[in-house]
Amino acid sequence: MPRAQSSRQSRRRPGAHPGCGVFAARRPFSAEVNMSVPVLSFDQVIDRLISMRQPYFTKYLAAYSSWYGGIITDPTLMMLPLDDHMVHRGDGVFEVFKCTDWNIYALARHLDRMKRSMAASFLEPPVDEKRLIEIVCATVRAGNSGNCLVRLFVSRGPGSFSANPFESVGSQLFVVAVAHEPAAPEKYEKGVKLVTTDIPIKTEYFATIKNCNYLPNVLMKKKALDRGADYSVSLDEKGFLAEGSTENIGIVSKKGELLIPRFSRILRGITVTRAMELARKLTGAQLTSTAEADITPEQACDAAEILIFGTSFIIFPVVEYDGNRIGNGRPGPVFRRLLELMAEDQAKNREMLTPVKL
Ligand SMILES: Cc1ncc(COP(=O)(O)O)c(C=O)c1O
Repeated sequence: MPRAQSSRQSRRRPGAHPGCGVFAARRPFSAEVNMSVPVLSFDQVIDRLISMRQPYFTKYLAAYSSWYGGIITDPTLMMLPLDDHMVHRGDGVFEVFKCTDWNIYALARHLDRMKRSMAASFLEPPVDEKRLIEIVCATVRAGNSGNCLVRLFVSRGPGSFSANPFESVGSQLFVVAVAHEPAAPEKYEKGVKLVTTDIPIKTEYFATIKNCNYLPNVLMKKKALDRGADYSVSLDEKGFLAEGSTENIGIVSKKGELLIPRFSRILRGITVTRAMELARKLTGAQLTSTAEADITPEQACDAAEILIFGTSFIIFPVVEYDGNRIGNGRPGPVFRRLLELMAEDQAKNREMLTPVKL
């Protein structure tokens, strides 16, 4: 018996079957094992893709790909070319917006932010804005559901595997409509937990655009979940609150000020921006003022309320921050009123809605 295999056998956990549990997917590197790697035919790949359909595919309603030149509804084919620079360098930008009852909310604002992200990344828009809106609406219609999240990507495009942006055939557009399930009611009723993360904040240039380099954001989410929290918030170089992994944060001080971190250092969230506009209606009642500000973690701990903002869920109340109870430990009045105002805006404000059906 070759040495490699005998030493591997001696390291096996007592009672552990070599083909079960965490070891099941791993194959020993041994000359005795048939290590041949199949070279697949076109048809074999298609058969394989069909056999690999996953339960979550039912959420993937429709996708447009400029690479394919149209819309597809079979998630099996919702793929990117491996040599697209968005895959191997994160060289692309994206947006996510919500469609409710066949109306897209704040589309113009999302597309403006996308334009800023493309300009900062020196990405050529793959189509003009009118065509982009046509493609977005056609993709949602093809998905056959008026309630979805639309994810829009502009990539540098395929061509070579280098970091050189000039070695691409040109920017590409990908749009995918994904079924949107509302967040669990208990997150609104009981609130969520927030922790401070030590993942370093992105530099100003990259934090203020929505580009596809989201590793810091991914690690922030991981840290939150590892610590038994729902969300995490980063701090800037001066120790002030910045943002969540894919959310904005705000506090309501005990004096009734609604304060959010300065947009010069974080992504200008579409949700929090609209919420701040609507919050002005609450000044003189639940609020005394609204402003961007430098917010310390101590101020946040001492706040009457902490709020989290994002496209998919709109607003969640934070009831625990770094293990400290916030306010009375229950969702507060500003959260409730602001959520009502936002929900009304999203359902009824024609100026903010783009109908998807002609
Ligand atoms: C880093 C970051 N901050 C904030 C947000 C919230 O922005 P919006 O309200 O536009 O969803 C997002 C959204 O994905 C984000 O990625």
